Amino acid sequence: MNNNPTSNNQHPTSENIVHHPHAVTKSARAALKGQRPCILWFTGLSGSGKSTIANAVEAKLCEMGKHTYLLDGDNIRHGLNRDLGFGDAERVENIRRIGEVARLFVDSGLIVLTAFISPFRSDRDSVRNLVGEDEFIEIFVDAPLEICERRDPKGLYKKARAGEISDFTGISSPYEPPEHPEIHIKNDGITVEEAAWEVIKYLKENGYLHA
Ligand code: ADX
Repeated sequence: MNNNPTSNNQHPTSENIVHHPHAVTKSARAALKGQRPCILWFTGLSGSGKSTIANAVEAKLCEMGKHTYLLDGDNIRHGLNRDLGFGDAERVENIRRIGEVARLFVDSGLIVLTAFISPFRSDRDSVRNLVGEDEFIEIFVDAPLEICERRDPKGLYKKARAGEISDFTGISSPYEPPEHPEIHIKNDGITVEEAAWEVIKYLKENGYLHA
């Protein structure tokens, strides 16, 4: 793991960039907030319920006085990543940037929630490797394709089947499910409330909610 909070220093242009040590550390920021910073990384098909569950978890954490931030497809793909589409290379870059942003937020002491399809295992693992061992919690929101397609909240599966959207995850672009997620939510026949509590329970049992 690279301990530098602001860069992975892998790019050649970063050779001449020197990092200033910060007077205020991650642990000082986290202690002020009374929590252990981490990334709650929700992954799953479009329409599986990632954003809905992440929203509910964030609301519960907020009620408990925790400091959070939710990154999701809508706020990122309309702003920071509005130059990116859905081809493989662009999805890789989408997740790389989100990983870097999430790492900065962890450094600021926040509990960060992310809701992106993030279809490729290697990209999710790269984000895992950006932060400390216990700071990445992978949450697989697992709903069968047939169910996501039936829900089709944005009407996108219908368009993908009609050939109006290319590279659509689950139809014409792959999704690689996590092999060992920290939390596996089978989001078929349970309520949003129940799903959100599964996450809160994990955080409580593993000591994330106290500094
Ligand atoms: S990711 O694959 O790069 O992680 P991301 O989560 O940011 O995807 O965006 C997915 C959202 O964009 C979907 O929920 C859907 O609303 C929309 N979308 C538009 N085109 C596609 C596509 N070709 N494949 C998947 N999602 C798409």
